[in-house]
Amino acid sequence: MLDSCGREVRAMRLAVTEACDLRCRYCMPAGEPPRALAPLSRDELAAIAAAAAQCGINKIRLTGGEPLIRLDIVSICEAIGAIPGIRSLCLTTNGTRLAGLAKPLRQAGVARVNLSLDSLRAPRYAQLTRGGNLADVTAGLRAALEAGFERVKINCVLIGGVNDDEIADFVALTLAMPADVRFIELMPMGECLRWPKERFVSADKVLDTCPELAPTDTEGVARRYRLPGAKGAVGLIQPMSHAFCGDCDRIRVTADGMLKPCLHSGAELNLRGLTGRALVDRIAEGIGAKPPAHHLLDAGSETERRMNRIGG
Ligand code: 5AD
Ligand code: SF4
Repeated sequence: MLDSCGREVRAMRLAVTEACDLRCRYCMPAGEPPRALAPLSRDELAAIAAAAAQCGINKIRLTGGEPLIRLDIVSICEAIGAIPGIRSLCLTTNGTRLAGLAKPLRQAGVARVNLSLDSLRAPRYAQLTRGGNLADVTAGLRAALEAGFERVKINCVLIGGVNDDEIADFVALTLAMPADVRFIELMPMGECLRWPKERFVSADKVLDTCPELAPTDTEGVARRYRLPGAKGAVGLIQPMSHAFCGDCDRIRVTADGMLKPCLHSGAELNLRGLTGRALVDRIAEGIGAKPPAHHLLDAGSETERRMNRIGG
C-alpha cells in the first residue's frame, strides 16, 4: 500500500515487549523502568501481522525491548511465520539469550536476525549496558551463524568519545565472518536527548577511519560498503547526517498495541481490541498517516517514548 507521499509501505516492526535484561545508557534509565502495560498476546500479535499482510506488508521484524525475554517467543514466531503474505520474518535482539534460542527460532521460521552490539570490549560493554556480559552475546552470535539464518547483522550505535575508537575492530569482523556490520548514528531521543553534542558523530567517520571500504549498493535505509575480500558487508545507517525519510517503507507497532506511522512522530493509533475489517482499516489509516519526514535536526524527536518502548 502507498502512503500519502507515494512511498510503498512493506515492512512492520512489531514490538513484543518493553522489558529488557540490559539497560543501555542511551535507551533506558538505571533500575526498574515504570511498569509497562501488558504486552500484546501471541494471538493479538498474529492477528495484527495477518491484518498488516492484507495491507500489503510482507516483512515483519520483531523487536522490543528485548524480544527473547518473552517465554513464548518461539511460538509467536511460528504463528507469524505461518501467515500467508509474510515473506520475511526477522528479529532484532541484544543477543544475551540467543545462544539457546538461535536454532529454535530458525526452525520457527525466522529468516534473519539483527544483533545489537556497541562494544567488543567486555568492560566497556558491561559499562554501556549497565551489567551486560559480552561473552553471552558472542556465544549468541556464534549460535546465530551456525543456525543457518539467511543473514546475520550486527548493529553498532556509534557514540562519539565512547566507542568510535572501535570502528576498525567492528569493520574487521566482516573479513572472516559472514555477517554484516552496520553503524547506526545515535539519535537524540529519550535518555540521550540532552547528551553533549560530541557524542553524536556522523557515520561518515567509518569511511574516514577505513578508507579501504568500497561502496557497493544500498539496502533499504543502509548504504553499503565492503573491505576487499571480506565475507560480510559494512552498512551505514545515517538518520541524522543523511535523512532517508524518502525511502522509509515501514510502520511500527509498540508492545502495548499502538501503531506509530513514524518513529519520531508522537502520532499513535490504537490497535488493541480491534479485529477483522476494523483492524485492517486502522492499519491502512496508519500507513496513510506517515509524515513526509522527521524533524530530528531542528526539534529533536517528537516522540515521548524511549526506544525500548518503541522497538528500535
Ligand atoms: N539512537 C540510535 N539507535 C538506538 N537504539 C536505541 N536507542 C537508540 C538511539 N537513541 C537502537 C539499539 C538497537 C535498536 C533496537 O535500537 O541499539 O540496535
Ligand atoms: Fe535493551 Fe535494546 Fe534498549 Fe539496550 S537498546 S536497553 S538492549 S532495548
